[in-house]
Amino acid sequence: MPTETHQLSTPHLLGIKDLNEQDIQLIFETADTFKDVLNRPIKKVPSLRDLTIANIFFENSTRTRLSFELAEKRLSADVVNFAASSSSVSKGETLVDTVNNILAMKVDMVVMRHPYAGAGIFLSKHVKAQIVNAGDGAHEHPTQALLDAFSIRERYGDVAGKRIAIIGDILHSRVALSNILCLQKLGAEVRVCGPATLIPKHIASLGVKTESNLIKALEWCDVANMLRIQLERQDINYFPSLREYAMLYGLNKSILDALPKQITIMHPGPINRGVEITSDVADSQHSIILNQVENGVAIRMAVLYLLAGKR
Ligand code: CP
Repeated sequence: MPTETHQLSTPHLLGIKDLNEQDIQLIFETADTFKDVLNRPIKKVPSLRDLTIANIFFENSTRTRLSFELAEKRLSADVVNFAASSSSVSKGETLVDTVNNILAMKVDMVVMRHPYAGAGIFLSKHVKAQIVNAGDGAHEHPTQALLDAFSIRERYGDVAGKRIAIIGDILHSRVALSNILCLQKLGAEVRVCGPATLIPKHIASLGVKTESNLIKALEWCDVANMLRIQLERQDINYFPSLREYAMLYGLNKSILDALPKQITIMHPGPINRGVEITSDVADSQHSIILNQVENGVAIRMAVLYLLAGKR
């Protein structure tokens, strides 16, 4: 178990914007220890055996929900899971009422995914529990950014000085914003690449340059983080067709092989194979996509453990 005496500067994890560099390094060092635990035959420690955590998901999830649940169980916390689709939310119950009823059952911490940006911030002001944002609309996905940066650190030894290209649907992506904030705090340089209609107008104010040409973005970067087109968040057509998008911004093996140097390929999942990335790239030796998923458990263990230390 980690023995550090340092603490996070925040009682909740609502977004990367609330973390400073020391917080992120503390999470990484704690995750290093938990990754060692996860590689042992007995992958469990008693650190949070006095805690009950509710995972409340108002949006679909595979990786984040299972990763949080495994992290909680590896830390010996008691866990309850709530899926909005099978709950009394459909009968008109508000978010605050729903969460206060869950908290009345002596729950200590809430991990929440919600389709509305700012839902976690709102909840943290209206209920008496620690809140962990597991993705809020197109706003932030802090644990995804932490596990992404942790995976880059694992690959290269350090994040500082690395060049990261985030490619795809930046406009609708909570992963993009959290990654930009996290990587910059750690001293990396970030550029975005995609169709002009899928790049937010304010991106330059974040200190991020835009590259409209995929090949140039790939030639510049050390790491390409390929994002999915989020059709479920698109109310209008932002490009003519998925086929045209794949021709202009899809990454395939012949593009990768023609680059002057080896780069690392990342993807937060879920992948749309054949659209933003082909199978021969996703499954290649350049890809660390499943390392990202593996690291997600250690990062979430670290976040929950450190937040519990703030109680
Ligand atoms: N990366 C990610 O958030 O995946 P899920 O939607 O499956 O949780």
